[in-house]
Amino acid sequence: MKKAIVTGISGQDGAYLAKILLDKGYKVYGGLRRTSTSNLWRLDRLGITNDIELISFELLEQSNIFKMIQKIQPDEFYNLAAQSFVGVSFEQPMYTAHASGLSVLSILDAIKSVSPHTKFYQASTSEMFGKVHEVPQKETTPFHPRSPYGVAKLYAHWITKNYRESYDMFASSGILFNHESPFRGEEFVTRKITNSLVKIHKGQQEKLTLGNLDAKRDWGFAGDYCQGIHKILQHNIADDFILSTGKTHSVRDFIEKACLVIDTEVRWEGTGVETKGFNSKTNKLIIDISEDFYRPCEVDHLLGDSTKAREELNWTPEVSFEGLVTMMMEEELKYL
Ligand code: NAP
Ligand code: GDD
Repeated sequence: MKKAIVTGISGQDGAYLAKILLDKGYKVYGGLRRTSTSNLWRLDRLGITNDIELISFELLEQSNIFKMIQKIQPDEFYNLAAQSFVGVSFEQPMYTAHASGLSVLSILDAIKSVSPHTKFYQASTSEMFGKVHEVPQKETTPFHPRSPYGVAKLYAHWITKNYRESYDMFASSGILFNHESPFRGEEFVTRKITNSLVKIHKGQQEKLTLGNLDAKRDWGFAGDYCQGIHKILQHNIADDFILSTGKTHSVRDFIEKACLVIDTEVRWEGTGVETKGFNSKTNKLIIDISEDFYRPCEVDHLLGDSTKAREELNWTPEVSFEGLVTMMMEEELKYL
């Protein structure tokens, strides 16, 4: 039985990846940081909480990481834990640098010292492309991060590559473009939109307040991307791979598609922070804009080229943009 450690087990990707690994017969150790209330709802919803051995894991505790790896001697280590919210990284840049960047060095160094056979996966991100140097972005596109989160992740990406090249370790990165699902945290824009629109639809909320509606993202389904994460560590050599859909949509497109699922059409008025969205049937204001949700530096346009993953890993995303939006809206309608 293969042993895998998955950090960030309470997060969106942790849940999907754990399910994939359990279905393949792995023994899964889920790295969980201590919190005063349980946040295992995603694992509960997938019905896998009791199949995972939960282990105490804190990104900032080097000795904890070292002992855990020494004891478990995992075949595979998936590092999904991070301070993952770009917006917060502007408020907490130092913490983000430690948690999402430097901590990866503790993991790599522990693997090198006490469990060199372990294959390591780092959750890298399209946010590293930031102010993009070419469209679409490929593995060879230069990086230009635009947030403390992007800068921290770039350190983690390069130290992973450096340990691979210096010590011949099986250390790979997936450069994943935005991937969403009903398990997405509520502060990320897609889930904020689906959650709020359904609450408005059910009379539980007045309106939805957002930031920049013109940012474009290459949005895929997290379940598809976690299949890709697993494939990256099964490849014959350690390498870096982009996972993306190859299609991009604006935040505004996402809202319009989501509204269709609840038989609502938005009529837009104004521009920039003055933009307002009305329910075209009732004329009620349902969307407005606040500068609070703008970032000091924005990533305007992400579009990935995942040809390498498609050709070398035989990976293809199955859920379309429309399918993703519908899935997220239907799950909100079911649970709210
Ligand atoms: P997520 O839902 O925000 O999950 C993040 C996980 O990290 C949570 O389990 C969280 O635990 C844990 N964590 C945060 N700080 C920690 C700390 N100090 N010590 C230990 N654990 C800590 O993120 P996700 O969407 O699943 O993404 C997984 C990874 O992929 C992240 O590294 C993210 O940066 C990266 N990524 C995501 C995307 C995307 O579009 N989703 C794209 C590219 C890369 P709590 O539950 O206790 O907060
Ligand atoms: N969160 C949020 N809230 N974003 C908003 C809002 C709002 O009210 N209004 C507009 N946006 C815009 C943001 O400015 C950004 O351009 C876009 O919506 C997407 O924001 P997020 O959903 O927060 O995602 P992200 O692209 O910044 O970061 C996510 O994707 C990265 C991969 O590119 C996260 O999952 C990162 O962890 C991941 O690395």
